[in-house]
Amino acid sequence: MTPLIAGNWKMNGSRAALAELDAIAAAAAATPGVEVAICPPFTLIERAVARQPGLLIGGQDCHAEPHGAFTGAVSAAMLAEAGARLAIVGHSERRRDQHETDAMVCAKAEAAMGAGLMTIICVGETEAARADGGTEAMVARQLRGSVPHSAGDHLVIAYEPIWAIGSGQTPTVEEVAGVHALIRRSLAGLLGETRAAMVRILYGGSVNAHNAAALLAAPHVDGALVGSASLTAADFVPIIEAAA
Ligand code: G3P
Repeated sequence: MTPLIAGNWKMNGSRAALAELDAIAAAAAATPGVEVAICPPFTLIERAVARQPGLLIGGQDCHAEPHGAFTGAVSAAMLAEAGARLAIVGHSERRRDQHETDAMVCAKAEAAMGAGLMTIICVGETEAARADGGTEAMVARQLRGSVPHSAGDHLVIAYEPIWAIGSGQTPTVEEVAGVHALIRRSLAGLLGETRAAMVRILYGGSVNAHNAAALLAAPHVDGALVGSASLTAADFVPIIEAAA
C-alpha cells in the first residue's frame, strides 16, 4: 500500500506561504513511493493546484449537500471544481467547534466520495475516554457512525487522538499499532475484509521529523496526517522522507 503523508494547514497559510509547496513537491517527486497531499484553506486551493499540479491538494471540510442556502459552506463538487482531489471530514476540531456528529460526518464523506474525492475521515478519542480505558470503544463507535457503507477505495481513515493534537504528546508506537489494528478489524466488519484491506489508516497528532519514522513503521500505519509540521517544507519534507 502506498503511504500517504497529508498536511492539514488548518486556518494557517497565505499566498506567500504557497512558496513552501515548491520544496514539498520536489520532495514528493523524489519519493515516488509516497503519496503527498496538502490541504490548505479553501481560498488557497486553486492557487495551490496551479502552483504545484503534481501535489494532491485537498479541502479541510465539505458540506453534505451539493448546493443551497448554506451560508459559509463549500460543497464537495465546488472543491473538485477548484482542483482539489481530496477532502478531510470529521476532524475533531470541527466535531468540537461545529458540533458535527458521526451522522453528519458520514453524510459529508458520502458527498466527498460522490464528487470523486479521496476522503479522509478522522476519528480519535478524548483525553477522558483514554483515561477511562475507553479509547477502542470510542473509536469503534465513531467508525460505525461515520464510515459510509458504500465506501470504496477513495476512503482513508485518520486516527487522531484528540489529546495528541498540537500538544507535543503522542501515544506509544504500541498504542498506535493497537488502535490501528482495531480500526482495520472494525472496517472489516463494516465493509468486508477485501475493502477494509485497501483502506489507508493514517496516524495524526504531533507528528514531526523526529517521531515520524517510528510511528510510520508500526503495523497498519499507512501514513500520517500532519498539522503544524506541514506548514513549512523544512518540517514536512523529513516526514515525507521517513515514509519512503
Ligand atoms: O489534522 C492534523 C492534526 O490535527 C494534527 O495536528 O499540529 O498535532 O500535527 P498537529
